[in-house]
Amino acid sequence: MAKIKHIEFYNFRNFKNFKTSFNNKLNILFGDNGCGKTNILEGISLIAKGKGLRNSNILNLIKKQEENFLIKNNLEIQKNDFNIEIFSEQKNEKLKKIIKINNDSSKDSLNFLNQSISYLVFLPEMERLFQASPSYRRNFLDRLIFSSRNDYNKLINKYKKSLLERNKILQSYNTDDDWLNRIESEICLLGLEIYKLRNSQLKTLNIELSNMKNDYNFQFDIILEIKDDFFNNDINFEEYLSNLINSRVYDKQFGGAKIGPHKSDIISIVNNEFEASLLSTGQQKTIVLMILLAQCNYLVNHKKINPIFLFDEIGSHLDKHNRQILLDMINRFEIQFFLTGTDQNMFSFVSTNAEFYNITEL
Ligand SMILES: Nc1ncnc2c1ncn2[C@@H]1O[C@H](COP(=O)(O)OP(=O)(O)OP(=O)(O)O)[C@@H](O)[C@H]1O
Ligand SMILES: [Mg+2]
Repeated sequence: MAKIKHIEFYNFRNFKNFKTSFNNKLNILFGDNGCGKTNILEGISLIAKGKGLRNSNILNLIKKQEENFLIKNNLEIQKNDFNIEIFSEQKNEKLKKIIKINNDSSKDSLNFLNQSISYLVFLPEMERLFQASPSYRRNFLDRLIFSSRNDYNKLINKYKKSLLERNKILQSYNTDDDWLNRIESEICLLGLEIYKLRNSQLKTLNIELSNMKNDYNFQFDIILEIKDDFFNNDINFEEYLSNLINSRVYDKQFGGAKIGPHKSDIISIVNNEFEASLLSTGQQKTIVLMILLAQCNYLVNHKKINPIFLFDEIGSHLDKHNRQILLDMINRFEIQFFLTGTDQNMFSFVSTNAEFYNITEL
């Protein structure tokens, strides 16, 4: 699996010209607010398909007043070195992100890259994951699915596009019934697939979490579930379609679609008693770290994928339980970590060979 050995940024975010090499285990980036720590993690997360960890549009990636950004990096994949370039390019009045692997941007090369690299991400907002809006939890789950299936984003995008298309038809004066029927069938097929994958991802996590109980000293028992007024495990295409057709009048009036996986929420039941939304932010962080650890276990042991960990502002509010989970991740897996915090001292509990990078000095 991929390890990042070296990275260079040119006109990327706040960096005019930035270079650094990384070790293949534990990299800790520290520095004052605004020095560019999250930008570095974002730059790393762009070495694959997608919009990176901020889900940003390309224009914002380019340093203000500059025309294009360029990220160069050296990746080791199964003991071979690859030079990767990621840059923005203006094509037909649209900014595009281009990736080249050893100067080659063929589909095969890109597929190879996408299959070789996978990320698990912690962002500071996740400390309130169970108090945030459902869309945030859906995205969190979708990112986990994406870490083992790099074609999953395509499915989500297609589904969203079909919903928009249906909405357009419903809002138009002369509804084209054939077209509407076709789009609704498509929505149901895609929607069922998303429900299925999300459900199976949660099942996987529940199994991993329960198996890990003996080995790890977890503070909580958690069970993750989809909460959705419409979804149940036996739902089939016909039922979905007839429900969608029945909601046309409502959807025409209110826009969007009343049913479907874009309405789901994900809940976490703690100790068989209450929902995780009742936990403190530090405790929610514990649950998120447990989930990431469980997913890591699944990826490494069942999918033979070694993800790269990008943990932003992980250093703050780490009590002994959360430190232990982080140490478990670091010590038990052959994985490359990138952790950020404002202060080097936040990471004094990490005893493994960590390399520290003072971003202000670079
Ligand atoms: N396109 C851009 N051009 C120039 N500067 C940018 C661009 N996008 C973001 N920045 C700047 O980059 C700086 C660093 O941002 P970043 O979020 O990486 O900081 P950070 O080190 O993670 O800070 P914190 O500790 O507060 O999280 C910010 O001052 C931001 O305004
Ligand atoms: Mg930051």
